[in-house]
Order: sequence, then C-alpha cells, then structure tokens
Amino acid sequence: MTTQDRAPESGTAGIPGKPTSASRTTLSHIMTASDTNLLGTVHGGVIMKLVDDVAGAVAGRHSGGPAVTASMDEMAFLEPVRVGDLVHVQAQCNWTGRSSMEVGVRVMAERWNESTPAVQVGSAYLVFAAVDEEGKPRPVPPVLPETEKDRRRYQEAQIRRTHRLARRRAIKELRMNRAAEGLED
Ligand SMILES: CC(C)(COP(=O)(O)OP(=O)(O)OC[C@H]1O[C@@H](n2cnc3c(N)ncnc32)[C@H](O)[C@@H]1OP(=O)(O)O)[C@@H](O)C(=O)NCCC(=O)NCCS
Repeated sequence: MTTQDRAPESGTAGIPGKPTSASRTTLSHIMTASDTNLLGTVHGGVIMKLVDDVAGAVAGRHSGGPAVTASMDEMAFLEPVRVGDLVHVQAQCNWTGRSSMEVGVRVMAERWNESTPAVQVGSAYLVFAAVDEEGKPRPVPPVLPETEKDRRRYQEAQIRRTHRLARRRAIKELRMNRAAEGLED
C-alpha cells in the first residue's frame, strides 16, 4: 500500500476526519404491489430511489449539511426483488475528495414474514458533492476507514475515481477534436 492509498487524517481545508461508522446508514422498506413493473417483479427505479435516498442520508451525515447526487454508477441488479420482500439498503461513505464523497450501497432482501437469511440483490456506487447555500461545492471532512473492509473499499473507490476522471477527460477531448474538425452531432 502506498501513502496515496491511505486516507488522510484531516482534509485540505483542515477539517478533522470522521470515521466511516459515524455516517453508516440502513433504510428498510417492504415491497408492495405499487412497486412492481409490468412483469410483476419490483421496478428497478424503485430500488434506485431507495439507493439514492440512503446514499443522500450518508452524504448529509458525513458532510454535516446538504449534499447533491453528482453521479450514480455501477448499479448492479443481481436478483429480482418481489412483492413481500423486506429490502434493506445499507450504505457507507467509502471515500472522500475535497468536496465529493463516494457512497457504496448494498441492497439486501428477505421475505418479510419468514426467518430465512437476507440475500444480496444489488449494489451501487454514487458520488455526492457537498454544497453550500448557493449550491456551490464545499469541503468535506476526510473519511477515516476503521476496518480492513473499509480500507479495501477506500482503495477500490480511488480506482473508480481515477477511471471516472479519465473517462470524462477522454470524452471531453474527443468532443473538442470533433468540433475542431467541423463535425456536427
Ligand atoms: C455536482 C455539482 C455540485 C458539481 O459542481 P461543479 O461546479 O461541477 O463543481 P466541481 O467540478 O468542483 O465538482 C465538485 C466535486 O464533485 C465531483 N464531481 C462533479 N461532477 C461529478 C460527476 N459527474 N461524477 C463524479 N464526481 C463529480 C468533482 O470531481 C469534485 O470533487 P472533489 O471536490 O472531491 O475533487 C453540480 O454539477 C450540481 O449541482 N449538479 C446537480 C446535482 C443535483 O441536482 N443532483 C440531483 C439530481 S435530481
């Protein structure tokens, strides 16, 4: 592990760090008939709203104020969710930058009236930006991973961050080059 992989103890703005556990949050919801798609299973958008809701709570708690969804990527649906499933959406702050936070979300489901173990049905990674009253990005406390799992998630989040930035840069460059060549969309 290099020093760059390690979470800093305090942020660029000198804000003291906050441990991962301080903002870890779970949202639970029983799926009903109004949550279904045309196939009769639960609509992916219903799950995505729960994911965004719980991730927003984590981002707000970690940053100590308002935060907006900047991006949502790698939303994976692993198993169908059914009416009568009790869904638990678990989220934690994996990584922090200057004003952004990556929140990792795991979606678990179990039958609401059976004592069978919950199974993982989905996962997602979202980036939130902490904002001030004018909607401008504001600095966040660095997250302090506490366990080996937290540290692995921090390192993986850094890899995703590098790829997000590289992808944005590459697409911006391609568009500029196409425009310079006079190509129309
Ligand atoms: C997200 C938002 C605040 C970013 O503002 P901006 O003026 O582009 O500011 P910056 O470029 O400094 O970005 C702020 C941070 O967010 C990150 N960020 C911005 N857009 C991002 C994206 N699409 N994906 C991942 N991270 C992103 C930046 O990397 C930066 O991180 P850092 O400060 O930790 O280095 C702004 O685009 C916004 O308000 N978007 C609308 C958000 C919203 O309304 N969400 C709800 C949708 S209904």
